[in-house]
Amino acid sequence: MSIGLLYERAETDEMGIKLTAQRMGVDLTYVPFRKISFSIDKVGFCAKTKGKNYTKIVEDLDVILNRTQSRNRRLFSAYLMEKLGKKVINPSAIEFICYSKLRTMLCFWSNSIPFPKTIYIPCDAVETTEGGKKVRNEGDIAGLLQAEIGDDQIVIKPDAGTHGKLIMLSKNRDQLVKNIQAIKPSIINPVGILAQEFIEKWFYDLRIIVFKEKGKAPFCHPLALARGGLEDFRTNTYLGNLVFDAKLPQEIRELAIKCGKALGKGSKVWVFALDAMMKNSTNRIVDDEYLESELGKAALSYEAVKEIKADKSKTRDFSKWNHKLETSFENYKATDAYKNIKSILEESIETNKHHIVFHEANSCPEFWEHTRLIAGINLATTLIKCAQSTV
Ligand SMILES: Nc1ncnc2c1ncn2[C@@H]1O[C@H](COP(=O)(O)OP(=O)(O)O)[C@@H](O)[C@H]1O
Ligand SMILES: [Mg+2]
Repeated sequence: MSIGLLYERAETDEMGIKLTAQRMGVDLTYVPFRKISFSIDKVGFCAKTKGKNYTKIVEDLDVILNRTQSRNRRLFSAYLMEKLGKKVINPSAIEFICYSKLRTMLCFWSNSIPFPKTIYIPCDAVETTEGGKKVRNEGDIAGLLQAEIGDDQIVIKPDAGTHGKLIMLSKNRDQLVKNIQAIKPSIINPVGILAQEFIEKWFYDLRIIVFKEKGKAPFCHPLALARGGLEDFRTNTYLGNLVFDAKLPQEIRELAIKCGKALGKGSKVWVFALDAMMKNSTNRIVDDEYLESELGKAALSYEAVKEIKADKSKTRDFSKWNHKLETSFENYKATDAYKNIKSILEESIETNKHHIVFHEANSCPEFWEHTRLIAGINLATTLIKCAQSTV
């Protein structure tokens, strides 16, 4: 059986997959998708880069681990590989749903999975008529959103965004109108406005890993990666938030599996990183002042991790860099502040386990640094096992 790793650039995760495959004694074939010209005609197909013919290499692959980073390209590559007869993880039908936050929410809605109330308005904030006249729709759009959500806070987000980019919170009508005005159609928000009720979470949200190997029951990892901070309502690590591991109650694990089954319907193998929030404005176990001071201490000890993360030696000697990275995360996790926050998180999650809402499904998540070294989940192993199970 032959497994191909499809990627755009060899980043940390892809280097991690290579290292894991070596350790598992599994051969991986690397296919630099972005650099290849794929042609089809009545004779067949051909895959070539400037210097190398990949046709036979691609032909011989049975399964593809699709790590193409851009969502558009990933959807193309999944569909293309399927048409060439390959099994793809994740398949294009899954990529199609996860690509779009609206499609993901529709999937959750139709499967009775809790999610934030979501409104989609297909109209853009500014439209140009045939005669070149600008029509401004922000007032009408704001009215339609407020008719659904009322005077409460409203979140607007790009349908295909990542890393918290261009997600805006409006606290009143003026801000809402301004935020709507700021939205321009783009590759991450092709058309219209996507909005959600604001979930009054506390200081964190959760990333939960679920997967299914062929012929086996779906599995949800017992630990989640919690991303936390008090500065911004967006808790993405990309925005400088800290990371912690947290034990998941059985009820949440079961719900996460339900999400995986809904998203992966029709596919024998799938892997997802689900993002979820706890809808708990009350029930805070400690006051924010104490929390802030503990987060401050944890942030200080996280500085050493950040230094290693930024160390350029990783491309020269990945294995050595990885060892340094592992040690730095171990030191961070051993601090009292980390342990205190972890126990606050776990108590809060247990108390609020019936108030969880799922707001995103990532089909190609980053994992080598946080998910692996904080929550102890090496997704590379999962991906390779899933690939092996398909054949
Ligand atoms: N409806 C919402 N209410 C409150 N916070 C939200 C809401 N939607 C997103 N967020 C915050 O913003 C972050 C990023 O949102 P998400 O939908 O996951 O988009 P992205 O693809 O950019 O990660 C989330 O992790 C969460 O902290
Ligand atoms: Mg997210």
